[in-house]
Amino acid sequence: MTVLSPAQTAIPETDSPLILALPKGRILKAAAPLLHMAGIVPGPDFNDEKSRLLRFETNDPNIDVVRVRSFDVATFVAFGGAQIGICGADVLMEFDYPEIYAPLDLGIGGCRISIAQPRDRSGQEDNPNRLSQVRVATKYPSITRRHFAARGINASIVHLHGAMELAPVLDLSHLIVDLVDTGSTLRANGLEETHTIAHVTSRLIVNRTALKTQPERIGAIINRFRTALASSA
Ligand code: PRP
Ligand code: MG
Repeated sequence: MTVLSPAQTAIPETDSPLILALPKGRILKAAAPLLHMAGIVPGPDFNDEKSRLLRFETNDPNIDVVRVRSFDVATFVAFGGAQIGICGADVLMEFDYPEIYAPLDLGIGGCRISIAQPRDRSGQEDNPNRLSQVRVATKYPSITRRHFAARGINASIVHLHGAMELAPVLDLSHLIVDLVDTGSTLRANGLEETHTIAHVTSRLIVNRTALKTQPERIGAIINRFRTALASSA
C-alpha cells in the first residue's frame, strides 16, 4: 500500500482546515484504506467508539474530518459545512443536490437499490405487481416515488429509517425499496428481490462553490484520491 504524504500533493494553506465528511458504518470501514493511501489519517480519537467527538483533526493540518450519518454527508456538503465528502450514489440519487459535484467513483460500498416483496406472492391475488395502488416502505421516498411514477403507479410511501424488511411482514406495506448487498437480510426476513432500481458505489463529492473559490486546495485533495485509486487498482 502506498501512503501519500501531504507534501506530495501539498494543499495550499489558509486559516481554516477543509472539512471532509465521512459516513459512519460500513462505508467508513471500506473507505479507511483509501483515506490512508490518500495521506489522510484521522487522530486516535477517531477510532475510539466511546468518544463522543464528531470532528477530528488529521495528520494534515489542512484537513479535519467529521463523522456523520451516511444520508447527512450529502447535506453537509451541499450546504457547504463540509467542502468534501464520501457518499453513496444512493444518497446522491435521493437528494439530487445541484450544489454537489461527484468527480470520482471510489469503487467501494458496492450494493444495489432494489424492490423486494414477501416470498411466494408472485402467483397470488395480493401480488403487489397486480395492484394499481401500492404501499412501499423505504428510506428513499424520492427514488421510490420517481420509479413508480415513471411506470404509471401511484406509490404511497411509508418512510422508515431502518429495518424496512419488517414492513411487509407486519402489514405496513406491500413492498420495500432498500439497499441489498449479500441478500441475507431479505432472506432472513422472508423477502425476495423482484427488481433492481440502481447499482450503487460510493463517490468522492465536493461542494461546487467551494471548488470554484478554492480550486487549488480542493483540486489537490481530489488528485490525492485519484492517485490512491490508481495505485490500488
Ligand atoms: C442495510 C440495508 C439492508 C441490508 C442489506 O441495512 O438497509 O437492510 O443492509 O445488506 P445484505 O443484503 O448484505 O443483508 P443496515 O444493516 O445498514 O441497517 P439499517 O437498515 O437498519 O440502517
Ligand atoms: Mg437495513
